[in-house]
Formats: sequence, structure tokens, C-alpha cells
Amino acid sequence: MKHFLTIADFSKDELLHMINLAIKIKKEMKLGLFKDYMPKKTLAMVFEKSSTRTRVSFETGIYQLGGVGLFLSSSDIHLGSGEPVEDTSRVISSMVDMIMIRNDCQKQLELFASVSTVPVINGLTDIYHPMQLMTDYLTIVEAGLDKNLKVAYIGDGNNMANSWVMLASVMGFELRVATPKGYEIKDDIKKLSNKLSNKNKTNITYTNDPYKAVIDCTVVTTDTWVSMGLEKQKQKRIKDFEGFTIDTNMMSKANKDAIFLHCLPAYRGYEMTAEVFEKYEKYIYKEAQNRLHMQKAIMVYLDKHT
Ligand code: CP
Ligand code: NVA
Repeated sequence: MKHFLTIADFSKDELLHMINLAIKIKKEMKLGLFKDYMPKKTLAMVFEKSSTRTRVSFETGIYQLGGVGLFLSSSDIHLGSGEPVEDTSRVISSMVDMIMIRNDCQKQLELFASVSTVPVINGLTDIYHPMQLMTDYLTIVEAGLDKNLKVAYIGDGNNMANSWVMLASVMGFELRVATPKGYEIKDDIKKLSNKLSNKNKTNITYTNDPYKAVIDCTVVTTDTWVSMGLEKQKQKRIKDFEGFTIDTNMMSKANKDAIFLHCLPAYRGYEMTAEVFEKYEKYIYKEAQNRLHMQKAIMVYLDKHT
């Protein structure tokens, strides 16, 4: 049985297989074909944090596959508070066919998965957001930019940044990560990335200079400076991230055909200007909608390997 807790757990071939499956399922849907890939299967969706895209895409996705979604907010169940995580996992997994979790602790997610009898999917933790990164890669493939791909991630060394590092490490594309001082990618992530990168010949560089990072890149991306749960640090972060707003001048240093991606929610005037957002919004909204197709493929893949 396979879980999807981090991109690092899969090979390049496996990830490409899921991407191709997403393209196929998306095509079928555009033709009005909703094949029952997962008839009568139940997906439990555990949310300890808010969500627009993850919730709507998973719930709609499992329904379109012939199954049903069960929304469980942290106030509805006892995840890690009323009872041991292992008990919650054993009980939920004895009744449903798949579980998606969004929480604030990758280690808790791993513990949950270690005793689950059904596949567990990471819907965002403090460390990773792999569903988003798979979707971003699908969007890049659709834009025809997956060959000679050079990505610049500008901003916080957070769950999105860590996931870009893992995706590049496995897929073998060039990645430059520019973070302000004090917000760099942690050493344990770099260590794991080095191990994978050596095998896959990836070139990942880290800098505190966003202008250096974007030069000639074909994809420029970022994320909020204030992730969920860090709201109290907002004012300090706005100061610390000065010079990291992606504006048209910064974008002009990238490849002339470069696109800008954002996982959303986006805060115009902070991580990017409204002008940059509007210029690339067709890619950004497509990226958001692709969550539906990508996650349907991932659910089908995990279900098949159970
Ligand atoms: N990008 C993303 O995961 O969005 P939500 O927080 O709305 O799910
Ligand atoms: N880094 C952000 C991503 C939101 C999709 C957060 O964790 O809040």
C-alpha cells in the first residue's frame, strides 16, 4: 500500500505516470466522460486548517470518480487532542478507503499513516504541500515548459519551498531558491535533497538575492510570506521580506517566455504586485483548477496500488 506524504517517496517514473493519468482523466472529463474509477469508495478529508482549493477539489474529485467525500474539521474529531493519533487513524481507516489530512505537523501525519490500513494523502503540513507541487508540474507540462525547465522560487523557505526542492530533486530540473536571510530552507531538507539530487543530477542553488535567482528562468513562483498559523509574525515578516516582491522589473530578468505561478491564496502588493498577478492570471487560475484533475489521478493511482 502506498501513501502520498511527500514527493520524495516516489520515483520520477511514478510521478510522470500520475501526471499522464491526470492528463488522461482531464481529457475524458472535457469529453463529458466521468468514469467510475473508484465506485462507492469513501475519502475522509481531515482539515485542521482552512482551505478553499484543497477541500473543493478533493470533494468534487472523489465524487466524479464514483465515490464520496467526508469532510471532517478538527473541531469534529479528536485528532491528537482527545485520543492518541494512532487510535483515530486505526478507526477512520477501518471505515473509509482513503484519507486526506491537512494539519500543522508532518510528523503527526507520518504517525497517522504508519498505522492506517488505507492510503493517506498529505493535503498540506508545516513541511510539505505535495498535492500543490504535482499540480504545478502538470500546469508546467500543459504550458509546454517541462523541457529545459528552470524554476525560480522567490520568498519564504516554507512548505511550498520545501516541496519545490523535493520536486526538482526527483524530476531533475534546475531550481533556484531565493529567500530572505533567516528564512532559508532547513538543513535536513537540503540533506535529503542532496541525496536525491545526486541520483537524478539536479541542479539546485540557494541565494538571498531574488534578482540573481530569476535570471533566464522559465517559471517564476512564490507563496504567501505569512503562512497559516504565522499571522502574529505578519508585521515582522513584511519588513524582513523587503525586496522580495516580484514585480515586472524582476520578471523582466527571467526568460522572455517565462510564466508566473502561485498556489494561492495570493496577497497582491506583498509576494507579487497586482500587475504581475494579472499578467499571468490565466496560468494561476488554471493551476488552481488543475488541483481537481491532478488529485483525481493521485487518488486513482493510490487506490490501484492498495
Ligand atoms: N493552494 C491551496 O492549497 O489552497 P487552499 O489553502 O485554499 O486549499
Ligand atoms: N504556505 C502556505 C500555503 C497555502 C496553500 C500555508 O501553509 O499557509
